[in-house]
Amino acid sequence: MLIDIVSVFPEYFSVLDLSLLGKAQSKGLVEVRAHNLRDWTHDVHHSVDDTPVGGGAGMVMKPAVWAECLDELLGLEPVDMPQVDPTAELWDEPVVGGDTTGGDTIDEGTAKGADGAAKPDDAVVSESVSEPVPLAEASESADSDTVLIFPNPSAPLFTQRDATQLSHAGHLVFGCGRYEGYDARVPRYYKARGVDVREYSIGDYVLNGGEVAVSVMLEAITRLLPGFMGNPDSIVEESYTGSNALLEHLQYTRPTTWRGISVPEVLTSGDHGKVDRYRRDQALARTADIRPDLIEKLDCTALSKADRKTLIALGWEVSGRNPRRL
Ligand code: 6GU
Repeated sequence: MLIDIVSVFPEYFSVLDLSLLGKAQSKGLVEVRAHNLRDWTHDVHHSVDDTPVGGGAGMVMKPAVWAECLDELLGLEPVDMPQVDPTAELWDEPVVGGDTTGGDTIDEGTAKGADGAAKPDDAVVSESVSEPVPLAEASESADSDTVLIFPNPSAPLFTQRDATQLSHAGHLVFGCGRYEGYDARVPRYYKARGVDVREYSIGDYVLNGGEVAVSVMLEAITRLLPGFMGNPDSIVEESYTGSNALLEHLQYTRPTTWRGISVPEVLTSGDHGKVDRYRRDQALARTADIRPDLIEKLDCTALSKADRKTLIALGWEVSGRNPRRL
């Protein structure tokens, strides 16, 4: 996986050389390149922002600087796109009327390099007849396994699902905004050019820029890459993954009594069935308490009889499609 990050503070990303991601880089699993957006400016002040059209406080990042940078990283030629709606939401379908070459590209479980939806209507056909894409045409739009991501506090939340999906991409390009943000035409332009473009927020709070959000998303994505983790089992057992997204049970290690506090007795019983049930009940109870929204998303038919019994005891109704709090 190739990861390009564009920022006015590229030095921030030296943290990515540390720890497991650093190891993954030396192993050749991922290559991270951090670029300075100012390298694509032409004026003496290397200015990347301007006042907002329509007035107001703050500064907005100029589209031309971003475009010169992103054209280069994505291998695209500059073209005028007068048909692009500057207000369309990225996650709604076409940004362009008629000739849409874009669309969702990376499917969960799609192997790297698989033909995506750069041309969604042709994808199946070209796969079944295995016709090679003419080079000239291929260079017209970005690679189908490329995703362009803009951290943005006013965007949908980044979830484990997104991390899993993006871990199948071959090339991620992150554009970190600063100030009041970037010109909204930039992501819409690249979507219209056939690029898989996403905007994500990492939570309901405000950061000064996208850099921290990118490092959060990258850690969530890269740890899912095959060969990244020492013990891949530790991935599936964690919170928010698998078919049942529950908070985890509490963990303890030895000594079983520490500063007068003993671990729950069942954990020392040696009865694995009992331990598993205890942990599962605790996960359900903690989730119902801390994140009832996650309980509401569970599929009742996928729950065991014991799970349903626990939820009923916790005051939930489990006869419908999803649990409902009584
Ligand atoms: Cl992605 N960016 C900024 N600036 N603030 C945020 C965020 C992103 N997600 C939550 N807050």
